[in-house]
Amino acid sequence: MIKMTAAALSISLLMAGGNTLAQQGAMEKKMEMAGPVDRAKILAAPGVSGNFSTYKVRPDYYRLSAAERKGAAAQVLAVVEKHKAKIIVDAYLTRGFEAKSDYLLRIHSYDMAATQAFLVDFRATRFGMNSDVTENLVGITKGLNYITKDKSPDLNKGLSSATYAGDAPRYAFMIPVKKNADWWNLSDEQRLKEMETHTLPTLGNLVNVKRKLYHSTGLDDTDFITYFETADLGAFNSLMLALAKVPENKYHVRWGSPTVMGTIHSFENVVNMLSMGN
Ligand code: HEM
Repeated sequence: MIKMTAAALSISLLMAGGNTLAQQGAMEKKMEMAGPVDRAKILAAPGVSGNFSTYKVRPDYYRLSAAERKGAAAQVLAVVEKHKAKIIVDAYLTRGFEAKSDYLLRIHSYDMAATQAFLVDFRATRFGMNSDVTENLVGITKGLNYITKDKSPDLNKGLSSATYAGDAPRYAFMIPVKKNADWWNLSDEQRLKEMETHTLPTLGNLVNVKRKLYHSTGLDDTDFITYFETADLGAFNSLMLALAKVPENKYHVRWGSPTVMGTIHSFENVVNMLSMGN
């Protein structure tokens, strides 16, 4: 049996720890040197993880000195920079629109664990540690299930030929949707028919609303996370009313709760606005 003195043991533990730290440092350096995630590509790809989280800034944050709050954005940006090879993060200001949150983050990655690693680092920043999570939903992107070239050629053509023609979107919405067991027990043909009835009145809104769908069944307590951007709140209201009137709506057990509305900004601006008021 090998006997080790306490001193030798602590030296070897220190060395092992040093090694781990060195390896971790090298890995972080490698991550920083890698190119950023291709935004257009990840936003169009299937199999991408989407993470939505809303936060409320703690009142205590405003007791910190202005100098401390001023440095918050730089600290957050350093964390974004560190993870830029694996994730992209979009930020939205919800203060003034939502009672339970001040900002929303939408994060995409090819690996949900990479999103988690970013969020762990973000919550260790001064701004992150002064923010309470008030909602968190995860989902993944997929190809079309219903309105495909084969199953619904005309609507598929309508979907792919329409393009957004409005002003640059200033508002974003996150709306979770869950359907009941009756929906999931419809036949494939019946669900296709209902989704065609969903698509027909909404196609016209592709000129003034951008949409993105995330699938969450089994990954979270919802079936879908829907995400929209628009510059036209009236058009978005009419769109929601049109969808409230289609039979598919009878199968919804969650349609919002919460509906999160925010204005679109850079992450830096969101942190600065909430830290410095500008
Ligand atoms: C520009 C407006 C919209 C258009 C063109 C549109 C179109 C579509 C299409 C084509 C699908 C089927 C995707 C597939 O084939 O897998 C779909 C699915 C879906 N849409 Fe919309 N949609 C719009 C707005 C909305 C809104 C405002 C909501 C509600 C908040 C919504 C909620 C959903 C949900 C939850 C699904 C998934 C349904 C399921 O797979 O059971 N959509 N949408």
